[in-house]
Amino acid sequence: MKVLLLGSGGREHALAWKIAQSAKVEKLFIAPGNAGTQNVGENVDIKADDFEALKNFVVENGVDMVIVGPEDPLVKGVYDDFKNDERTKNVPVIGPSKAGAVLEGSKDFAKQFMKRHNIPTAKYETFDGTTVEEGLKFLETLKAPYVLKADGLCAGKGVLILPTLEEAKKEFKEMLGGMFGNASARVVIEEFLSGIECSVFALTDGKNYKILPEAKDYKRIGEHDTGLNTGGMGSVSPVPFATKEWMQKVEDRIIRPTVEGLAEENIEYKGFIFFGLINVEGEPMVIEYNCRMGDPETETVMLRLKSDIVDLFEGVVEGNLDKRDIEFDERAAVCVMLVSGGYPQTYAKGYEITGLDKVEDSVVFHAGTKMQNGKVVTNGGRVIAVSSYGKDKSEALQNSFTQAQKIEFTDKYFRRDIGQDL
Ligand code: AMP
Ligand code: GLY
Repeated sequence: MKVLLLGSGGREHALAWKIAQSAKVEKLFIAPGNAGTQNVGENVDIKADDFEALKNFVVENGVDMVIVGPEDPLVKGVYDDFKNDERTKNVPVIGPSKAGAVLEGSKDFAKQFMKRHNIPTAKYETFDGTTVEEGLKFLETLKAPYVLKADGLCAGKGVLILPTLEEAKKEFKEMLGGMFGNASARVVIEEFLSGIECSVFALTDGKNYKILPEAKDYKRIGEHDTGLNTGGMGSVSPVPFATKEWMQKVEDRIIRPTVEGLAEENIEYKGFIFFGLINVEGEPMVIEYNCRMGDPETETVMLRLKSDIVDLFEGVVEGNLDKRDIEFDERAAVCVMLVSGGYPQTYAKGYEITGLDKVEDSVVFHAGTKMQNGKVVTNGGRVIAVSSYGKDKSEALQNSFTQAQKIEFTDKYFRRDIGQDL
């Protein structure tokens, strides 16, 4: 079969690497891809949200299945767009409908959904320009620190955690005043939860689901979780506190009610659900939903997925995911992200990356790279994800750190403490 994967980051290179291993796949295209995805498939120079160009490509090239990596095309409705076009209505898109992607696209919707289905999450209320005073009063009822969330998508930047009531009130007014444009026209204020976070992933056909290996990601730029938030500096899987008992709670209280809730509300959802969880004194609670896989969690989850991912995707399309097998690699997997100096603020692009051919024993996933005059150059803040197996987390980390030293580009930076808090 011919498969088209949308996206261009480390998550997509990891998905492409896994899809390319399937005996069912005769051709893999990635739009637009990066310098790494071209080693496992063919890059196509179309943006992941240019639906007209994507549909033309699918028709002209006889593509049998489309897999969506990032949230942006999903929130913009790529699933519905393909379905409502005579030419592409029979080409399955792995990813939720626009209505399903709202789980990620609107924090307020996600919170209301969890409330309707009794899914454990932080106490909250939502405010807009007409309820500023009420919002300020609600803040006074909470304890520090204060959590403010822009309702809409803000490329991971829409959550503010403020240490004092004064700052919270100020930022709350600024958010409603347009700090994140229309995305913060509504603001969710919620209770702060204290605990360690964990990302859990399920693939669903709308009725059945399969749970993938869990992972923990490292969001801050600095070691020991200091400094600004990033797209993710590394990840590890498995997560020690995600025991069998804990994962059973996650399934019973969170995953099953979510999948059943979507079905009850007639929301079409055939794709990945990402549960951003926090472990509060042994009890899992939902911090957020995403309508896609995590990045850089995918760079470890794909290493631990033994089964043919395309077989699972076929289960999603045919609605018989319950009949498909899912097996995990018992080894640990970790990912260490090499980033551009200056990231997540300003940084330069276009530096040559050398030493990629010297890497042994690790899987190198490209995140922000491109080809320029026959050379691989940096093309983003997060550049390369060095992913490794080990008999345990320490061995896997040792592998990634050793290999990370061999890859060179100007102002390379990575966190040397990934996984050490667990
Ligand atoms: P989100 O975009 O919703 O994942 O939020 C970004 C980050 O903010 C999360 O990964 C958490 O680290 C933190 N966060 C969000 N909501 C809360 C909360 N209610 N309590 C504590 N931390 C939170
Ligand atoms: N690693 C978190 C995310 O993908 O949103």
